[in-house]
Amino acid sequence: MYTVGLQSAADAFLLASLKAQVVIALIILFLILVFGVGTHKESFDEHAPVFLPGYHLLAIIPFFRKRFEFLNEGFKVTGQSLFQFSMLKDTVIVVSGESGRKAFFSNKHLDLTEGFKVLSGAIPMVNGVTSDLQSRRIALIHKRLASVQNSEALTRLIHPILEDTRRVMESWGPEGTFDPFEHVYKLVFQTTVRSITCDEIADDPMLVQKLKDLYDTLDSGTTPATVILPWLPTPSMLRKLCATKKIYDIVVHAVNTRQASGVARDDTLQMLLDNGDEKLVVVGFIMGLLVAGARATGTTASWLITYLGGHQEWREKAVVEVEQLLASYHSSGTTSLSAHLAAVPLEAWESETPVIDALIHETLRVAQPHTAMRRNLGPDVLIDSKTIPSGAYVLYPFSDVHLNPELYPDPWTFDPARKPANVPYGYVGWGGGKTVCLGQRLARMELKLIVAMFLLSFQFDLVDKDGHQPQALPRPNWNDILLCRPETGHCYIRYQKCMLSL
Ligand code: HEM
Repeated sequence: MYTVGLQSAADAFLLASLKAQVVIALIILFLILVFGVGTHKESFDEHAPVFLPGYHLLAIIPFFRKRFEFLNEGFKVTGQSLFQFSMLKDTVIVVSGESGRKAFFSNKHLDLTEGFKVLSGAIPMVNGVTSDLQSRRIALIHKRLASVQNSEALTRLIHPILEDTRRVMESWGPEGTFDPFEHVYKLVFQTTVRSITCDEIADDPMLVQKLKDLYDTLDSGTTPATVILPWLPTPSMLRKLCATKKIYDIVVHAVNTRQASGVARDDTLQMLLDNGDEKLVVVGFIMGLLVAGARATGTTASWLITYLGGHQEWREKAVVEVEQLLASYHSSGTTSLSAHLAAVPLEAWESETPVIDALIHETLRVAQPHTAMRRNLGPDVLIDSKTIPSGAYVLYPFSDVHLNPELYPDPWTFDPARKPANVPYGYVGWGGGKTVCLGQRLARMELKLIVAMFLLSFQFDLVDKDGHQPQALPRPNWNDILLCRPETGHCYIRYQKCMLSL
């Protein structure tokens, strides 16, 4: 469980003067650098992946700050399809190419949870709640996630998600300009809170904003030091600790209040409680999946709206598609757009939207900067005749396949009509092999409902900070591992409401 003692220490440290914090952190870091880090021993084993030259601890800082460039540079300077570097005492091997990704996605010993937990630093860790989760509990969380996405449960979510979307879009006013990476992301956070948590939280915009701010603190607090040396009491680590504790408190409070009220509601928390799961599973489900879901779906929605803003022909095709849906499933007596859209059945959203499906598919190819992370929990593995030792961490950057010009000519160009790459694991937007996204059905539905509402509610296009049409469309920044966000000031959405009643 979360240790209150650690929390008090964190509070005390944060209250100490900045100077004292920096001095303490520097002394500890100095001791580590002097005594704790050895250089790697050159291996003469012909089966060992080549080491990134010039290795020292500071050389891997770009792995956290500019991951796309760091990994590309690694392949370039080593000239190999696999290379390795060390993170303190851990070995990290980066793989690429067709045989690399085949082995990566199909080997049953390469474990996602162990890899992600250590290398990402992105999921809030609470002992026994989100860290040290036994595989039995993880399996249970995945099972509950499947229940959230059965047809009946997803159908129930359509109306509340559209209502949240309507409320947020109304708050944008009749016209204006916004940064999609702020506004659309925030909207997706709201709809994900609605889908994954409970009405008490989702109905309280201030609380949702607070949760989002806390998750943002976790993101900005994820520094090289907090990942490599998670126990080092740097200011970032302590801020992360405080944010995690506050998220935990919000979730536990919601769970306790619902249980104490004895009043059943029709939401995800109720489903979890009705299943009689232990509190660890309920809280772990909400804390872990909220962040996993909101980040990936928020990034995708932000880029999807950005691309629609910059591609008039695709915008028009998508509008026609949604209008056809509304015509096919017309509901009499409803006046608002959200109510009309809510009348479209789940099956139609899932099988009658080929244009939006193609838009999502291409957005994930070009603007999802994911690096898959695993740990080899089995015996040594051979990939491309190089050894991945037992216990080593293994990475596969999605850029290797999704931005490969041989598979996707002119890879940075957004083209939803492009031909599929006909090679094994030629597209891994939703994962591949034994690890595929377990929230895909929910994510796709959220994306479609939000995009449909936006397309029919507003006329919009893409502008730069001066309100002019940009010379070139923004390019996803794969070094930004969370949002893939283009440089600030490069892209905004200019919109004008075209519906009286959303
Ligand atoms: C557009 C939105 C999303 C995208 C593009 C996406 C993409 C992915 C990808 C690529 C993976 C595999 C990662 C890897 O191999 O390293 C994955 C795994 C996963 N995703 Fe998503 N995801 C999205 C939304 C969601 C949502 C909304 C949830 C839950 C609420 C979710 C839950 C999960 C889980 C639990 C896994 C791990 C599966 C496992 O351990 O086997 N995802 N996702």
